[in-house]
Amino acid sequence: MGREGTRTFVVSNKNAKFAREKVLGSMSNIKSIGILTSGGDAPGMNAAIRAVTRAAIFADFKVYGIYRGYRGLITDEIEEFSTQNVSNIIQRGGTILKTARCQEWTTKEGRQCAYDVLRRHGIDALVVIGGDGSLTGARIFANEYSYPIVGLPGTIDNDIACSTYTIGYDTACNTAVECIDKLRDTMQSHERCSVVEVMGHHAGHLALNVGVACGATAVLVPERTPDYEQDVIEPIRRARLGGRTHFMVIVAEGVDSAYNVAQKIKDATSLDTRVTVLGHVQRGGAPTSRDRTAATYM
Ligand code: F6P
Repeated sequence: MGREGTRTFVVSNKNAKFAREKVLGSMSNIKSIGILTSGGDAPGMNAAIRAVTRAAIFADFKVYGIYRGYRGLITDEIEEFSTQNVSNIIQRGGTILKTARCQEWTTKEGRQCAYDVLRRHGIDALVVIGGDGSLTGARIFANEYSYPIVGLPGTIDNDIACSTYTIGYDTACNTAVECIDKLRDTMQSHERCSVVEVMGHHAGHLALNVGVACGATAVLVPERTPDYEQDVIEPIRRARLGGRTHFMVIVAEGVDSAYNVAQKIKDATSLDTRVTVLGHVQRGGAPTSRDRTAATYM
């Protein structure tokens, strides 16, 4: 008998076996799984950890939480999880498993060490929650050792191939929009131009979506080399001619420094410009309903 929130359910050998077979099909020799979060954290990762842990335990798997991503896998920071380890986390930002960027994982020696640790614990498969780099690392490892890994896309960048959505993107967009709305109040009072730098080294999804949601005058994304005259100065001039007195320009961090962009605007238009770099605030906060449900269903 197990208790999950207010729902009590009976775990019999029969329905656990059915759940396991439903999940795994012919790979039912997998009896225990490890779960880790890697790379930049994203709101909703905790909801994913919770869902994976509870579904797996319900299906009669052993579940191991691996701390600090691939680094913790190599250094054996592993703990067996019960459903209680993931209680009261669905609403929390960050990741209870912590995360890290791991140079050693890019080496054969590092991955061999991780494989040995997995064997020692008897962990038959992994669930990796992370972004581009983390899932690429997972694929390399899976191919190298014929090791079963499920990757869940978790990044505020929304830039994972073959997935239309990544855990954390909606929360990050909403956080940025909330900040920019506040900026707009003061920009319109002072009749200034605000240049806001959002995250995204290689991906402009966040910048573009936030720009649309905030009614930005211009948005610069790393996928396209900007022509400043055409993409920024001209739209500002046009808006000014139409009577606008304050302006919002969104720059993804991978394009250029927001300070350079602001200087270019100032030189060309004489507008009073101010720069705001939103930075890591975009990665924090309670996940939105969309991120919690996406994480849970994934
Ligand atoms: O990959 C997510 C991300 O937030 C990027 O948008 C950003 O460029 C990067 O991580 C920042 O990484 P760090 O936290 O290591 O500074």
